[in-house]
Amino acid sequence: MPDPVSLGGPRFRTEPAELYRELRREHGAVAPVLLDGDVPAWLVLGYRELHQVTGDPVLFSRDSGLWNQWHRIPDDWPLLPMIGRGQSSVLYTVGERHRERAAVISDALEAVDPFELRAHAERFADELIDAVCAKGETDLVADYAALLPVRVLATLFGFADEQGPDLVGALNAMINGREGAIAGQLHVAASMARLVADRAARPTDDVVSRMLAAGHARHSHWGSGGLTHEEITQDIMVMMAAGHQPTADWIGNSLRLMLTDDRFAASLFGGRHSVPEAMNEVLWEDTPTQNVAGRWASRDTRLGGRAIHAGDLLLLGLQGANHDPQVRTHGSALTGGNSAHFSFGHGEHRCPFPAQEIAEVIARTGIEVVLDRLPDIDLAVPAESLTRRPSPWLRGLTELPVRFTPVPALGGTPV
Ligand code: HEM
Repeated sequence: MPDPVSLGGPRFRTEPAELYRELRREHGAVAPVLLDGDVPAWLVLGYRELHQVTGDPVLFSRDSGLWNQWHRIPDDWPLLPMIGRGQSSVLYTVGERHRERAAVISDALEAVDPFELRAHAERFADELIDAVCAKGETDLVADYAALLPVRVLATLFGFADEQGPDLVGALNAMINGREGAIAGQLHVAASMARLVADRAARPTDDVVSRMLAAGHARHSHWGSGGLTHEEITQDIMVMMAAGHQPTADWIGNSLRLMLTDDRFAASLFGGRHSVPEAMNEVLWEDTPTQNVAGRWASRDTRLGGRAIHAGDLLLLGLQGANHDPQVRTHGSALTGGNSAHFSFGHGEHRCPFPAQEIAEVIARTGIEVVLDRLPDIDLAVPAESLTRRPSPWLRGLTELPVRFTPVPALGGTPV
């Protein structure tokens, strides 16, 4: 059998599509891979196999406590935050308690008014374009995509506008994982805890207030349960971290496609009809969440012809499954309305449907505002020189330098 492939290898960062094809050819739908420190895991690349894994949360559990490799994981292992030891957010909760927490989150997000959401997204997007439109050039990643989703999400959750800029800085520092990451995380966590305490005392109409109210409702109905303030704080943190970066990458990857591919050139100048097509194609071809860690087998089983042992870690190869030839008729780009991709996961632990809709509105509005405000926008560097962040998990551009004819700011009150 061919050797396992290191998931940290350079090809996962540069040309993953080709590598997923090779892996499938050499290993089949479930490929052995090595994580940092040569820790073994399975990468599930087959569409059908990924359905099996995500559709059976008992056999393939979200409980990382089941892992049979804990004995060899050092305290400073770089992937620990992703694997979730000792974390008790909705991501790592299982069974009935997970269903309750996921329902509280879904209900609180479902109640977001789509018109208000669109208006918030437009307001922040216009403000960001105002800051650069007179210059004739900008980096649409650092100056735009990386700043937009967090501001919109913060407003939906209940943060005051004045808190927005600090949160943006802290969250991006935390996600970048370099100097300032710990301070960033502490700032975000403390802000979340303060918001929850404040809304518990003075509820209004926002996501946090609704999560608290759902907790009280459950409490009085069943005489127990309800989410604790700590659980709500953790889950707001998850929504912020799980929501911001992939939405920012969805904006960046879609703008890259529209700026580099002739099929989208007409709409750049002529209208916006193909923004949804570009966004959908990105979810199939260049998806923000490429691989997810993960699920743990709760007993010995077989998957895609492999013997999986109890406690083995399975990584969800979302991009690999999206490229599975079994679901790709001509290997062609999938545009139009086909949204049977795996980019938001599947099953009980998938991205909640209202969260997907919120991400879609933020990303579409963000892209439309760029095209409306800077109609002759063009890449400022050769397309081949655009680079991705070095990560096999979340795929996004390091920068997207563009130029355009300078235009005046819309003005309005800065927020
Ligand atoms: C382009 C944007 C987004 C992408 C690609 C994305 C992708 C995903 C994926 C693949 C999962 C499943 C992980 C797994 O199966 O283990 C997930 C879970 C989740 N996402 Fe998203 N997401 C996005 C935006 C958002 C937003 C905007 C929010 C919140 C406002 C959000 C909240 C969540 C939550 C709470 C979960 C955990 C669900 C659970 O464990 O029950 N996501 N997301």
